[in-house]
Amino acid sequence: VRTVKLAVIPGDGIGPEVVGEALKVLDAATAGTDLVFEQTPFSLGAARYLETGEVLTDEDLEAIKAHDAILLGAVGGVPGDPRLAGANIERGLLLKLRFSLDHYVNLRPTVLHEGVASPLASPGEVDFVVVREGTEGPYVGNGGAIRQGTPAEVANEVSVNTAYGVERVVRYAFAAASDRPRKKLTLVHKTNVLVFAGSLWKRTVDEVAAEFPDVSVDYLHVDAATIFLVTDPARFDVIVTDNLFGDILTDLAGAISGGIGLAASGNINPDGRFPSMFEPVHGSAPDIAGKGIADPTAAIGSVALLLRHLGETEAAVGVEQAIASDIADRGDRARTTSEVGDAIAARIGSHD
Ligand code: NAD
Ligand code: IPM
Ligand code: MN
Repeated sequence: VRTVKLAVIPGDGIGPEVVGEALKVLDAATAGTDLVFEQTPFSLGAARYLETGEVLTDEDLEAIKAHDAILLGAVGGVPGDPRLAGANIERGLLLKLRFSLDHYVNLRPTVLHEGVASPLASPGEVDFVVVREGTEGPYVGNGGAIRQGTPAEVANEVSVNTAYGVERVVRYAFAAASDRPRKKLTLVHKTNVLVFAGSLWKRTVDEVAAEFPDVSVDYLHVDAATIFLVTDPARFDVIVTDNLFGDILTDLAGAISGGIGLAASGNINPDGRFPSMFEPVHGSAPDIAGKGIADPTAAIGSVALLLRHLGETEAAVGVEQAIASDIADRGDRARTTSEVGDAIAARIGSHD
């Protein structure tokens, strides 16, 4: 028997709704196997902050670190809620976890499944993965404002890119490309304007490329990359990019592949020093929260990524196949969150 300690952070809005379905499918995928998930729920997010004034305490962080992996729904309150003005849940919780647990690879696969309507007229075969850097860039909080609130205000938000940080994520992306049939890597940046960071990323890709002669390398400026994601997404295999570009590109990637409700992700600490964290790409969706209509597929797909990360390939494939077969039969029927979860769970182990 293998016991996996799983920290579960349902979070806010639709987070708990979709995580409930993801756990339902995890149960179905592990029932009758030697794989046991010992779950610890963590009440974290905007709701917890409103109750206790706490975002993520040192005790929370230490307790989470003692787990093998993390499943997160989504965090963040209703934008503009004045009671949240003093807190920044996204930075203080989500980014703090990604930074403290050294999640330097933010893995965001995009597949246009059979049977899914893309908003694109002729998308072709869409199957790529964005390897988004997770611990640097403009996300680090290296900034500040002076004369705030005056007409002379200056606000800086510095993008931090280190040789160490860029090289490790680029090497991971090359290895991922090398393992895929098409073996193609596209660096996305903005080297024509962001010359210092751009130069570091470009040189690093050129250097690491020498170690992966089987991988073909391409480069696109991020603005052009958004064009090709819409006009010719099939050209992409592995995209490696910085934290902010990767954030933006992966919402677009979700939209072209059937909607953000399908987009799964993993925040990976490849060294295995810290637990990796799996979550849908989407947020807490306050506009549909509480209605029971959120699509849980992204959260369920995140469970598949979690199982793959743990090396539980058979269980992972079971979940992936159940998702794919449900999606293929979905049509445009409106279903509730739990109907989708039930349908996917029911397809586990019945490959027909
Ligand atoms: P969002 O992803 O929550 O919602 C964008 C749109 O997509 C909304 O119309 C929403 O209804 C729809 N949507 C999202 N998930 C869906 C699903 N599973 N099924 C069907 N429709 C879905 O983005 P937002 O509105 O910009 O952010 C809302 C809050 O979530 C903010 O506080 C934001 O900071 C936070 N956020 C958190 C995370 C995270 O925890 N990982 C990620 C993104 C945003
Ligand atoms: C995501 C989210 C987060 C990000 C926010 C909520 C901090 O948009 O996971 O894509 O920008 O990384
Ligand atoms: Mn995002």
